[in-house]
Amino acid sequence: MNVELQRSLLNHAAKYSHRSRFNIDKIAFNKQLSFIKHPNKLKALFCTRRAAKSYTGGLYLVQEALNVDSCNCLYIGLTRLSAKGIIWKDVLKDIDKRYKLGIKFNGSELTATTGNGSVIYVTGADAGDDEMEKLLGKKYRLVIIDEAASFTIDLRRLIYGILKPATVDQGGSICLLGTSGNLTTGLFFDITTGAETGWELFKWSAFDNPHIAKQWKEELEDIALNRPRFMETPLFKQWYLNEWVIDDDKLVYRFSYGRNEYDHLPSYPGQAASKWQYVLGVDLGYHPDPSAFVVVAFHEYDTTLYVIDCFKQVEMDITDVANKIKWFKAEYGIDRVVIDGANKQAVMEMQKRHDVPLTPADKTGKVDFIQIMNAEFIQGKILLSKKCQDLKDEYLSLIWNDKKIKKEEHPNCDNHLCDSALYSWRYCYQFLSKMPKESPNLKDKKQYIAHTQKLLEESLERQIRNQEDQERGEDIFHTSAMDNEGDVMNYYINKRRA
Ligand SMILES: Nc1ncnc2c1ncn2[C@@H]1O[C@H](COP(=O)(O)OP(=O)(O)OP(=O)(O)O)[C@@H](O)[C@H]1O
Ligand SMILES: [Mg+2]
Repeated sequence: MNVELQRSLLNHAAKYSHRSRFNIDKIAFNKQLSFIKHPNKLKALFCTRRAAKSYTGGLYLVQEALNVDSCNCLYIGLTRLSAKGIIWKDVLKDIDKRYKLGIKFNGSELTATTGNGSVIYVTGADAGDDEMEKLLGKKYRLVIIDEAASFTIDLRRLIYGILKPATVDQGGSICLLGTSGNLTTGLFFDITTGAETGWELFKWSAFDNPHIAKQWKEELEDIALNRPRFMETPLFKQWYLNEWVIDDDKLVYRFSYGRNEYDHLPSYPGQAASKWQYVLGVDLGYHPDPSAFVVVAFHEYDTTLYVIDCFKQVEMDITDVANKIKWFKAEYGIDRVVIDGANKQAVMEMQKRHDVPLTPADKTGKVDFIQIMNAEFIQGKILLSKKCQDLKDEYLSLIWNDKKIKKEEHPNCDNHLCDSALYSWRYCYQFLSKMPKESPNLKDKKQYIAHTQKLLEESLERQIRNQEDQERGEDIFHTSAMDNEGDVMNYYINKRRA
């Protein structure tokens, strides 16, 4: 054998000997194998904690890197740091060491390069624009997205808009891995609940992971014996049973079925029938955010706020929105339309061309107002009709973003109807409502004082509202009008708190 041939055979052996050492059929357990070997290009792995989601992702990445020369594979975690924490030492390096694969690890670039020239890139969704641009510009044989239930970026856009085209050249696959959580909306939730088609869904539990099954059993027995109440918590149901249940503490609004629902508006006889006030809240959007409308009503004699109707739709232009507002006015006799004024052009056009008088929504102190609104939900002072199912769905899925220290709504949850309801609720005064009493005896000192106080209060109320309307009539977006609104709102906050 000549030297050239000998050298070439040795090179070949160095490049490909790992293939004989890395036999996926022997390394992976059955459920892992069925996931890795399934030919679908879009796959999701939905399992309890410790079921081997990340390790399965690691095995899959290594197997593709070794089997396809010079290919690119990508692992995406929530953050670059968490991605490294999960996959680097405990998975990729572990696999490399166990099967002597000779993978070259670059800890600062977070790349793992195999002997046949393939590279596994590790990154997080928080990676800077430059890094993301570099990574997303490549062609991929396999993309693994771990912790898929916790992403705050739009996974639909990332997968269908960016990654899918990047896998076409190499006939690559995209996989989502995760356990259930509080975010009951978005792509991963839809895939795991069967609402999204085109994905092959795999489910198993830690009992199916032979490397952990014994410890898992002991852990569950320990919980049942020593911490049985933990089994009733949403966290237990999410992590140990992989059920989609929301931790109520994470919900932004305290709407509850039953407590916050009504069948019929109360009827008030005689003149009192005309004492209803109707407010329409409007949140403007186009695409992908919808425009959203919520009608609320309150009565001078009733301290409850009734949410009567709601509607949301994408791609409504200014005329569509103006027409919808007119429809609501005709249907319910709306007294006031409160609109998100961020899109001033649209609002001014509706005012001028479509003759729809509008009040700009006050958006300051949103979190504080949500808390006040929640106190009213808890007391059953806000009730929703049967027509408000879309709003109820938003209330029961909108969660706080626990990745932020400051209270912020989760960016992946729909909140447009919630916002419209909040805008309108801020302009309702049902908390001041009272059942009329019999005429006071003004010769009685106590009754006289109470009556005079009430008259003063009502007069102040009227003055404030008149002043507010007047100022708004001149220029609804004038800053001083907004300042004045701030004062008015402060007055009402104090009132509500009292
Ligand atoms: N094929 C395998 N060979 C060896 N060990 C394995 C294999 N599959 C899984 N394991 C082990 O099972 C354990 C759990 O795996 P892993 O960390 O991937 O679970 P997970 O579902 O991602 O957990 P978490 O929910 O905490 O993210 C780990 O210790 C891992 O090393
Ligand atoms: Mg994991």
